[in-house]
Amino acid sequence: MIVYLNGDYLGKEKAQISVDDRAFLFADGVYEVIRAYNGRLFKLPEHLRRLEQSVRGIRIPFSEFKKVGEVAERLVAENKLTSGNALIYVEVTRGSAARTHAFPPPETKPNVYVGPLEFSKKRHSQQEKGISVILVPDIRWSRCDIKTVGLLPNVLMAQRALDEGADDAIFVRDAVAIEGTASNFFGIFQGVVVTHPKTNLMLAGITRDVVLELCGNLGLPTRESPILESDLPQADELFVTSTTMEVTPVVEVDGRKVGDGKPGRITRRLQKAFREYVESLGD
Ligand code: PDD
Repeated sequence: MIVYLNGDYLGKEKAQISVDDRAFLFADGVYEVIRAYNGRLFKLPEHLRRLEQSVRGIRIPFSEFKKVGEVAERLVAENKLTSGNALIYVEVTRGSAARTHAFPPPETKPNVYVGPLEFSKKRHSQQEKGISVILVPDIRWSRCDIKTVGLLPNVLMAQRALDEGADDAIFVRDAVAIEGTASNFFGIFQGVVVTHPKTNLMLAGITRDVVLELCGNLGLPTRESPILESDLPQADELFVTSTTMEVTPVVEVDGRKVGDGKPGRITRRLQKAFREYVESLGD
C-alpha cells in the first residue's frame, strides 16, 4: 500500500511520524474520510472545503487543499483502487514540536498524511439488514462541527454499543438525539424526513447534504430540526448517513424495534436514489 506523508510517496510500513507530533500528544489535528467509487473520489471539493473549515477552526496554518486532492487522486491510481469501493483518509496535524500546550513556534510545519483505509465488507450487510443502536450521553466538546481526530468519546461509545450487543450509538445531548459516533442521524415522522440542523453540536456530513438533495428530487418533505429522544418511539423510520455507511437503516433503538423492525420504505427509496446518484457520476 502506497501512502503520502509530508511530500513523500512511500510504502505504508515505511511511513513514520515523530512522537512529538501534536496529534499524538494532544489530538491536535483534523481529518477527512473520502470515498472512491470505481476510482472516482466522491464529493472531493466538498471534502476539501470541510478540511479547510476544520483547519481554520483549530487555526493550523495550512492551505494546500488542492494538493491534498491531487495526492488523494494519485493514491487511488497508484494503489489500483480503480474499481469498486475504496476509502481515502487525510490527516493534517499542527506538526511536531517540543510539548507545550500553546501553539508551537510559527515555523513548525503541519504534518500531512494521506492513505487508503481498509474497506469493511460488513457495511453492505448493515445497509441491507439495518443496524441496532443505543442512545448514549453526548460527552463530546461543543465544537463537534470541526472534524478533529479527538474522537475518544466516539471511540468509547462505539465500543459501549458493541459491548451491549448493538451496532452503534447515537449521542443524546439535552434530550436531543444528535448524531451517531461516525454518522448523521435521520428520522421520518409522518412522512417528513427530519435531521439535526447544522450547528456546532454536530458534524455537517457530506452524505447528509446529498441525502437532503435527493429528498428534494424525490419530492420528500424535509425539516432540519432537533429530533427529541422522546419522539423516537413515534418515528416511522430511522437511518444514519456517512461516507462509510452511505444510507444505513436503523431498525432498533435501545432494544426497541423501529416500526416493524425492518428497514423502512422511504429509507429504501433513499438508498436506491443514492446508488443511482453515485452511478450517474460515473457516466
Ligand atoms: N465520519 N458525524 C460524525 C461524528 C462523523 O464522524 C461523520 C463521518 C459524519 C458523516 O459525515 P460524512 O457524511 O461527511 O462522512 C457525521 C467518518 C466517516 C469517520 O470518522 O470515519
